[in-house]
Amino acid sequence: MREEGGVPFKGKTSLVVGGTAGLGFEIARKLLELRSHIVIMGRQKEKGEAAAAALGDGVRFLECDVGDVRRVDAAFDALADRSELHFAVNNAGVTGLHAPIRRMEPSDWDRLISVNCSGPFYCLRREIALIRRAAGGAIVNVSSCAGRLAIPNQAAYVSSKAALNILTQVAAIENATDHDGGFAVRVNAVAPGPILGGMNTAERLAANPEGSRRKIEVTAMKRFARPEEVVDSILYLLGPGAGYITGAVLDVDGGYHAGKF
Ligand SMILES: NC(=O)c1ccc[n+]([C@@H]2O[C@H](COP(=O)([O-])OP(=O)(O)OC[C@H]3O[C@@H](n4cnc5c(N)ncnc54)[C@H](OP(=O)(O)O)[C@@H]3O)[C@@H](O)[C@H]2O)c1
Repeated sequence: MREEGGVPFKGKTSLVVGGTAGLGFEIARKLLELRSHIVIMGRQKEKGEAAAAALGDGVRFLECDVGDVRRVDAAFDALADRSELHFAVNNAGVTGLHAPIRRMEPSDWDRLISVNCSGPFYCLRREIALIRRAAGGAIVNVSSCAGRLAIPNQAAYVSSKAALNILTQVAAIENATDHDGGFAVRVNAVAPGPILGGMNTAERLAANPEGSRRKIEVTAMKRFARPEEVVDSILYLLGPGAGYITGAVLDVDGGYHAGKF
């Protein structure tokens, strides 16, 4: 990928998996402002089409449940039919019920591992193949501070995000140089702390005041992230300022992972 006048995203195609709501929608909006061509993927058709229309003209929505490899492959086949790919953000993710391992349902474990860990793997294999054709492309996986330290009662979420971190690093070192006729692809992750909006709707926060208070208490900066603070770190990792960064898991967590005190 050759940059146009120092504008890395202009005229390039960016995919946001899970771009139909919350953080993913904000990432897509920012990339669109930077004049990238945008493709968003999400599970729900109506919601996805409405999100694409709300973002603006030319934004393409592809329906895809990332936990189902056949649907992922079908969506990427449709993407590749009509465009190249330069940048990808694997943002789709879900949380589960809070319960100790002894009371967890295997189905809840399977669902979270499937969406949060297998999903990014199914997407990465297709994204890497496409982006390796474009010199200088990059991928960011959206992990979580929950993948950095053990948290009781969230075994599946924490494990899925910890696995995503190491998957990011494997993908990074496999694609760090040009080889086999393809270009290098930088692959990094962000590990955000609690973000306002998205999964943390006002209703959900109000429904669990103790949980909301705990999230602030365990964060050194004693506040939630504003969505744009996380978006900016993702854009940084995608862009040329991070040209020598690959395999990093960037904590964007208000000091959550720095230490407990
Ligand atoms: N919010 C936080 O405090 C926080 C903190 C740390 C990390 N994160 C991570 O940040 C990411 C985004 O979180 P968010 O709060 O913005 O979530 P959100 O508002 O619930 O949005 C999730 C997005 O992912 C899509 N999605 C969910 N399951 C999917 C599936 N099986 N296949 C395809 N798309 C799917 C949703 O679309 P559909 O509804 O159509 O499926 C939606 O576009 C997640 O990976 C989450 O783990 C969030």
